Amino acid sequence: MNEHAPIQTNNLEAFWMPFTANRQFKKAPRMFVRAKDMHYTTDDGRQVLDATAGLWCVNAGHCRPKITEAIATQAGELDYAPAFQMGHPKAFELAAKLAAIAPTGLDHVFFTNSGSESVDTALKIALAYHRAKGEGSRFRLIGRERGYHGVNFGGISVGGIVGNRKMFGTLLTGVDHMRHTHDLAKNSYTRGPIEHGADLADDLLRIATLHDPSTIAAVIVEPVSGSTGVLPPPVGYLQRLREICDQHGILLIFDEVITGYGRMGTAFGADYFGVTPDIMVTAKGLTNGVIPMGAVYVRDTIYEAFMGGGENLIEFAHGYTYSGNPIAAAAGLATLETYKEEGLFERAKALEPVFADALHSLKGEPHVIDIRTIGLIGAVELEPIAGKPAARAFAAFLDAFDHNLLIRTTGDIIALSPPLIVSESQIGEIVDGLRAVIRRLA
Ligand SMILES: Cc1ncc(COP(=O)(O)O)c(C=O)c1O
Repeated sequence: MNEHAPIQTNNLEAFWMPFTANRQFKKAPRMFVRAKDMHYTTDDGRQVLDATAGLWCVNAGHCRPKITEAIATQAGELDYAPAFQMGHPKAFELAAKLAAIAPTGLDHVFFTNSGSESVDTALKIALAYHRAKGEGSRFRLIGRERGYHGVNFGGISVGGIVGNRKMFGTLLTGVDHMRHTHDLAKNSYTRGPIEHGADLADDLLRIATLHDPSTIAAVIVEPVSGSTGVLPPPVGYLQRLREICDQHGILLIFDEVITGYGRMGTAFGADYFGVTPDIMVTAKGLTNGVIPMGAVYVRDTIYEAFMGGGENLIEFAHGYTYSGNPIAAAAGLATLETYKEEGLFERAKALEPVFADALHSLKGEPHVIDIRTIGLIGAVELEPIAGKPAARAFAAFLDAFDHNLLIRTTGDIIALSPPLIVSESQIGEIVDGLRAVIRRLA
């Protein structure tokens, strides 16, 4: 960098934006400068209704006083404490409170700073667990097509999004993938779990048979795939995965980065579907998206498997400088309190049918080929423009933003996940706004 160059605060070039069409954005920037509850304010003073909870994370709505105050107080009291060989009370308090709302048996929590780090932490725990038990032959990790597990090497290896994998060489070895469950010919316009496809869980059995079950460490799935366009599981599918894992000593990992913390109207997707995994990966809603933090929950038996050996030995050679960071822990505690005090998980449950009815009213609008809802998550799938995949939905995203509505798109699918504080009239506003957007599309 030229040290004599003047600092240009309005120069957008330096910031290489993540998962963004940088050149398109920098020609016509979309900037938020403030947020409150269900709305963002743009730099040109418009109020934009947030139909995506930021990036599936601001479950309690924006700039909630309890959370912002907890962060400010903590920053003035204990800003940072070493994460290794030292502790501070709030990390322990948060872990205990998380274990208390987790499905029975998931009693221990490992802190990270993101969903991607939580995923890679979970995969490492799975491998190390088998090795600690004397089953080091279990080195294979199984993911699923169309799975999204963040962007670190473990996550993109088990993930099933071609565009996120193809540029990055050999990835992890010993990984295999089950087929995805998205089949519009069999399931369309669905509410909740889809009817057909439970048998696809037997892909795990096929893969385990191919490699021999004694080589498989873990399988990882999102209970509802979010980032590849909201794919609810078939009825019985997750139960079948659980059965196969139990039969063959395979760990079941749920990636609940989106489905965790009330999004499904329950604390976790595991509760919604009545299936408890061995390891649960979370982030996002843990701190209401305000401060980066992730948490990986494990069964007691997994934690205990590490607790042999000399007492002065580090049992698991893994961790981050900011694991359990005091400010993040304070944000997490205040977020949990907000969820509880305002009954937001229950609120999401009560709104699930209202949201579903509203979104399904878009059936029959131009280009709409499917609508899926589950919990407070919804998707509207559009017919792609021939030869231009994703162009139609991206045009919808830009038009919605111009008309004061924030939606998210992936491929030709529009995904919605409003904060759990959304009112019934705001659900109506979101759907009316989207209807107008869809009718304007080419
Ligand atoms: C299911 C799932 N796993 C992992 C991640 C990655 O989380 P992060 O972006 O915090 O690394 C995401 C992000 O959307 C996700 O949806």
